[in-house]
Amino acid sequence: MSRPLRLAVVGATGRMGRALLDLLKDDARFEVVAALASSSRLGEPVHAGEEGLRYTREWPAVAPEVAIDFSGPAGLGAALAHCRAHGIALVTGTTGLDQALQDQLAAATHDIPVLRAANFSLGVAVLRRLVREAAAALPDWDLDILEAHHNRKVDAPSGTALALGEAAAAGRNVSLNDSAVYAREGTTGPREHGSIGFAVVRGGDIVGEHEVWVIGQGERVELNHRATDRSIFARGAIEAAHWLAGRQPGAWDIDTMLSERLRR
Ligand SMILES: NC(=O)c1ccc[n+]([C@@H]2O[C@H](COP(=O)([O-])OP(=O)(O)OC[C@H]3O[C@@H](n4cnc5c(N)ncnc54)[C@H](OP(=O)(O)O)[C@@H]3O)[C@@H](O)[C@H]2O)c1
Repeated sequence: MSRPLRLAVVGATGRMGRALLDLLKDDARFEVVAALASSSRLGEPVHAGEEGLRYTREWPAVAPEVAIDFSGPAGLGAALAHCRAHGIALVTGTTGLDQALQDQLAAATHDIPVLRAANFSLGVAVLRRLVREAAAALPDWDLDILEAHHNRKVDAPSGTALALGEAAAAGRNVSLNDSAVYAREGTTGPREHGSIGFAVVRGGDIVGEHEVWVIGQGERVELNHRATDRSIFARGAIEAAHWLAGRQPGAWDIDTMLSERLRR
């Protein structure tokens, strides 16, 4: 068997970071060489009662081959700069990126392989394909995207809702920027034909729910996905890290990974 890939987890103390570290503990394909956080639990062992891996803000002297980032825009920005400078492949699921960070990410793909996904679940990857097809097949129907997440999520609409909006816009050959309606309040007037609407719920411990309604006269198609356990995202990100390490620099995506695997 080949030697394990050296991997760093960025955002290690967070909900996703913990889910990743729990799965990686029993995954012989990887050696976790860094569990990076910025402020909390620094110096504490990652796995209770086990010496060795501790939460840290320092990258290791010997560069990992791949990093998985689920932190936040600041964490991603710092990780991106480090990975680019040290030739480390980067998988990131962080959402809520502003334009400057999106530009930095795009620039880094000249030097390192980067795989970014707003949602690492296989079910959502399939949902995106179905939404694109429904939007194309029912071009005159109204289309809205509804999403719900836990009460600590800081960005809205979710990255996944935006990706579903992109899929719908692609199915209709329009730009999401021109079609999106992110909020409705007051006297909005009738719905603008061809618009893609978003509705957001935040509360409790909801892991992630997305619905796409395609609404006609007297009938409606609903395409739904419910995540009940965040390990689905962690599993997808770990598969992506394994797939990405050693690839050419560039912007890789989960659809390419899935298509390649389905062809096998
Ligand atoms: N793509 C997907 O499939 C998917 C799925 C779930 C979540 N997400 C996204 O992933 C991100 C994290 O979600 P979460 O629920 O795990 O958040 P969380 O529980 O708030 O965790 C965030 C983590 O990032 C760390 N962090 C913040 N700034 C950092 C920095 N500069 N350097 C290193 N670490 C830093 C925090 O550590 P400190 O407390 O020490 O600062 C914390 O461990 C969010 O953007 C979320 O939307 C994506």
